[in-house]
Amino acid sequence: MRINQYIAAAGITSRRKADELIEDGRVKVNGGVLTSPGYHVEEGDIVEVDGVRIEPADRKVYYLLNKPAGYVTSTADKEGRPLVTELVPDSVRVFPVGRLDLNTTGLLILTNDGDLANALMHPSKEFNKRYLVRAQGIVTIKEARQLEKGIDIGGFVTSPAEVHLIRHDRNSTVAEIVIHEGKNRQVRRMFKAIGHPVLELCRTGLGSLEIGRLAVGQCRKLSPAEISALKSAVK
Ligand code: URA
Repeated sequence: MRINQYIAAAGITSRRKADELIEDGRVKVNGGVLTSPGYHVEEGDIVEVDGVRIEPADRKVYYLLNKPAGYVTSTADKEGRPLVTELVPDSVRVFPVGRLDLNTTGLLILTNDGDLANALMHPSKEFNKRYLVRAQGIVTIKEARQLEKGIDIGGFVTSPAEVHLIRHDRNSTVAEIVIHEGKNRQVRRMFKAIGHPVLELCRTGLGSLEIGRLAVGQCRKLSPAEISALKSAVK
């Protein structure tokens, strides 16, 4: 098995991120730092990531978390901040699929299925991503239409989106936005581009998955039907 596949099968991270771990010199095979990303793991090899021995897990697990603000979407953090993976009550190591900013809340998938995670994160897979936003100031219908048509967020024009203005008070507007891409901090950059910085952001839907009534900080296992829907969506 190729080393990046082995690392993904052990539930450490996706295959793509495994290549980064190798590049960063964090992977050792039989005591030596691995330099070749094309290495094939042989029977009896001892593989370590960050000094910890890993072995592929045979049990695949799939969780949906309602991420709280202040949690890092990663399996490790140099600053020692809380990690989303700490909220999954399973002895199997999982990793997050995609990323939510530190202060974004809402729907996040965590799994040890590296192949599914990779497929879900591939840019060619344009899943609907639905967010509830509270933005500073009063967003006008004209500004919402600008967001829908596509807007320059700094060297990149977003593709068509859907925006529903829900309510506003004197200082802020609550809106729902559905996008089909996943550029870094995309929703925050879109609202900033129309002059209304995001105050709060929550992902409420991803493809056919919904956050529903899951409380912030809680996670649940995906149902078999939800798992097969995801698998067929990436086929
Ligand atoms: N868009 C953002 O700006 N932040 C997120 O966390 C997700 C989407």
